[in-house]
Amino acid sequence: MTSDPVELTKAIKAACDIVAVVGSYLTLKPAGATYKGLCPFHDDHRPSLDVDPRRQRYRCWACGAHGDVFQFVMAMEKVDFREARAILARRAGIPLEETPNSGPASQRRRWLDALQWAQQQYHECLRESELAETARKYLGERGLHGGTIRDFGLGYAPLVGEWLLQQARRDRLDPALLVEIGLLLPRHEHAGWFDRFRDRIMFPIRDPRGQTIAFGGRILPQSPLANRAPKYYNSAETPLFSKGEVLYGLDRARAAAVAAGYLTIVEGYTDVLMAHQCGFAQTVATMGTALTPKHLSLIRRIVPKVILVFDADAGGLTGVDRALELFLTHDVEVTIATLPTGLDPCDLLVQPEGTSVFAQALASASDALEFKLQRLLQQHDTTTVEGTRRVLDAILQIMAVVPEQASPQLRLKMELMLNRLAHRLHLRNETVWDRWEQLRRQRSSLGSRTVPVTTPVTATVPSPPPARTDPLVAAEKQLVEILLADPALVPQACATWPAEAMRHPRLRRILAELYAIYQAGGVPDLDALRERLLDRPELYEDACRLQLVGQYMQQRQQWLGRVLRRLQELHAATERQSLKEQLAAADAEQAAQLLRRLQETQRGQSCSQN
Ligand code: UTP
Ligand code: MN
Repeated sequence: MTSDPVELTKAIKAACDIVAVVGSYLTLKPAGATYKGLCPFHDDHRPSLDVDPRRQRYRCWACGAHGDVFQFVMAMEKVDFREARAILARRAGIPLEETPNSGPASQRRRWLDALQWAQQQYHECLRESELAETARKYLGERGLHGGTIRDFGLGYAPLVGEWLLQQARRDRLDPALLVEIGLLLPRHEHAGWFDRFRDRIMFPIRDPRGQTIAFGGRILPQSPLANRAPKYYNSAETPLFSKGEVLYGLDRARAAAVAAGYLTIVEGYTDVLMAHQCGFAQTVATMGTALTPKHLSLIRRIVPKVILVFDADAGGLTGVDRALELFLTHDVEVTIATLPTGLDPCDLLVQPEGTSVFAQALASASDALEFKLQRLLQQHDTTTVEGTRRVLDAILQIMAVVPEQASPQLRLKMELMLNRLAHRLHLRNETVWDRWEQLRRQRSSLGSRTVPVTTPVTATVPSPPPARTDPLVAAEKQLVEILLADPALVPQACATWPAEAMRHPRLRRILAELYAIYQAGGVPDLDALRERLLDRPELYEDACRLQLVGQYMQQRQQWLGRVLRRLQELHAATERQSLKEQLAAADAEQAAQLLRRLQETQRGQSCSQN
């Protein structure tokens, strides 16, 4: 093989057909002499990406992205040319001498190689080591076959404290690298390291191309460590891996999903494994987080539809609301399937009739609106005016998140849904539309920047049905929405507005936890929040919804400034009101004191207005 870099590049290019390479990232369909797919570089709704095998180039007719196979990989993997070339060389099996390089690209490469190495160690251990006897037995008892374990590359991290470290020493691998990817931890008192994963089944988490980018580790149930540690944890979040962007099993589910026309989304690793083993290969899982907009745009490139699988009881009401919101705000069809007995998919599928029950559940999945509507209709008596109003409002409140400037597709979807709602509730279309408009105006006026400073706390906006929101709580809600959407703004809020000042108890708790995470040196995002709200899962669900709203806000930093000012003003106004009330009921001496305090708050108020 030549060592001339230009020759090498040509050889690599010749060996990497652009249709095959692009096709490994997204679904391409032949269209005459070229191939078409959804463009990954913008929010594409109809296939605008054109891949030309003859010219070996791609072009997006909508956003203008274009180039050759190297440029595609550079854009897709966010790497420079050399790294893209290295990726394609590996793919083609062409050896490249590694040029010493300390840039981010080679950092990435070092992490990927180390993860790949570790995956192999854990996997071999599970298959062959005496240390893995219990682990093998456990997986057997769960009903997982050898083939499934191999396909998903499962492994085992032994109980002994420095097992991985020893393997690294043997293979002359730098332990510091394993610290970076979260597999070793430095010892506190002494020099040296120890294994972070012990006595755990290791699930390699792979990117859509099948490269290991992280691990999830499940403790063995009989482990002496079992009651001291969480059931699962993950290796480090690196630029390679971020929980809210990954779908577990996607690398193995893609082809089946394209064939089926949808992806099935379950909650756990074991659920994915068992589903694949039982023939439902279009199955993936989120990584212990709710479905995010990032997930949806990843999904949208592959299939137009998802089926979310919920347990019968769990199907967390809020999980359903969130699914409905996502359905409304993204160009993906979101449907919901419930499993009958409160078993998760893995446990259901190993039962005698499990496979057919699961298939039945998928076949009878209903779209998110229908699902929500069914639930509400069970809860409320729609033969009464009040019952109908509640059902209508419950759904319209969720639908009110749809942004004003929605795409034509979303507007159409909205129209169909509103009309369907009217039909189902036996209301006139206009009634439903008017109420929706009204709720949406209320929503957006909560954030209106022109709300007069002196609005008395007790003022009421005349609006026919109740649903009046306390302006202080509305501002509190906005604060939390902004911070959840943008964790980088937490320090600013933390320095200005104490969590104890929050009136709304749930918002107060969420804000307090965000501040605590930040003060402990962490990133105050949803994932970190979840860990702290394990005792209050419904609060975490609240937070997910609030974040979603926050993500639609533009110029969040400016908003934050306004919201913080408004909170201070409203707070001062409330304070004054309560002092005035006390004053009315006070005797002369108390009155003098109260009057002084009242004057102080007014002074404070006029300062903060300037
Ligand atoms: P489950 O508790 O349902 O686990 O959590 P599971 O996958 O069904 O595992 P088995 O069947 O008990 O072995 C669902 C998902 O939530 C995340 C993991 O991604 C898990 O697969 N999770 C759960 C965590 O991240 N940490 C935990 O402590 C628990
Ligand atoms: Mn389970």
